[in-house]
Amino acid sequence: MTVPIDLRGGNKLVKGVFYGVGVGAGDPELITLKGYRVLGEADVICSPKSKADKEGVALSVVRSLLDTKQKVLELTFPMTNDKGELELYWDKAVRQILSLLKEGKKVAFITLGDPSLYSTYTYVLKKIKQAGPYPVETIPGVASFCACAAAANIPLAEGDEKLAIIPVVKELDPLRLALQNFENVVLMKTASNYPAVVKVLAELGLKDQAIYASRCGLPDGFLKTGLPACPSDWQGDNLSNVGALNLTPLLSLTGRLTLPEETEELEELKKIQKDYLSLIIVKRSSYG
Ligand SMILES: C[S@@+](CC[C@H](N)C(=O)[O-])C[C@H]1O[C@@H](n2cnc3c(N)ncnc32)[C@H](O)[C@@H]1O
Repeated sequence: MTVPIDLRGGNKLVKGVFYGVGVGAGDPELITLKGYRVLGEADVICSPKSKADKEGVALSVVRSLLDTKQKVLELTFPMTNDKGELELYWDKAVRQILSLLKEGKKVAFITLGDPSLYSTYTYVLKKIKQAGPYPVETIPGVASFCACAAAANIPLAEGDEKLAIIPVVKELDPLRLALQNFENVVLMKTASNYPAVVKVLAELGLKDQAIYASRCGLPDGFLKTGLPACPSDWQGDNLSNVGALNLTPLLSLTGRLTLPEETEELEELKKIQKDYLSLIIVKRSSYG
């Protein structure tokens, strides 16, 4: 192995190593042997989480694999699209990681699924690379959609079929195009825009065969074939109309207050819109 030299600080040796470890989608048995070894050898485990008062999901996955020797450094990255705000959190995390690397520590940043796919790890890694020539090793993990396809016992793609991965549906037309041009489509991070997804899938006759996978591999995870419909007043073309629940109560003929559609259906939809660890697999061909 080559010994890295800190080019900015003369010939000072840099012994710390930064690892990105994919821990798989939720089932601790899906972590790779390499990931398991690196976690065991690490001095510090960096655990990303979205809320300061809640343990990160990746940490909950590997908790049972850690012993008391590793220090856990919890790093908060709020769920926001505000790039400026995120930069502040990334920079704060990077400062903490760099000070550990300068002390020669082995630092493992855990990430749910695979580290190269929509992971905070990649933003942090970019900044670590900019900061200096620290050795870095990224260890892949089982991506969530692979774990979900496995849980459903279906192929993600066969023969010469194409597979598209689409995050956060913001516009309907690109989604329609993907569903028309790819035999298989994985829709990730769809929770908040779920009504828009349902609208397009229903239009294309794909709603009832889509597979909804929630918290795959975690104790409360589930799979479901077919997606619940959305109330008709969500079916506008403007996403701002369909992106939020309209729970305006109506006075029914019986004189009781009721919601615009069946309460049970709305309750289910409300849950889905908060179900951030979920994805949808759409296959145009039948999967038996
Ligand atoms: C920030 S991305 C992280 C993706 C992750 N790096 C991967 O390889 O799958 C989070 C999205 O991944 C999907 N996801 C992650 N874990 C999941 C799970 N256990 N079950 C279902 N979907 C999951 C969801 O679509 C979620 O919104």
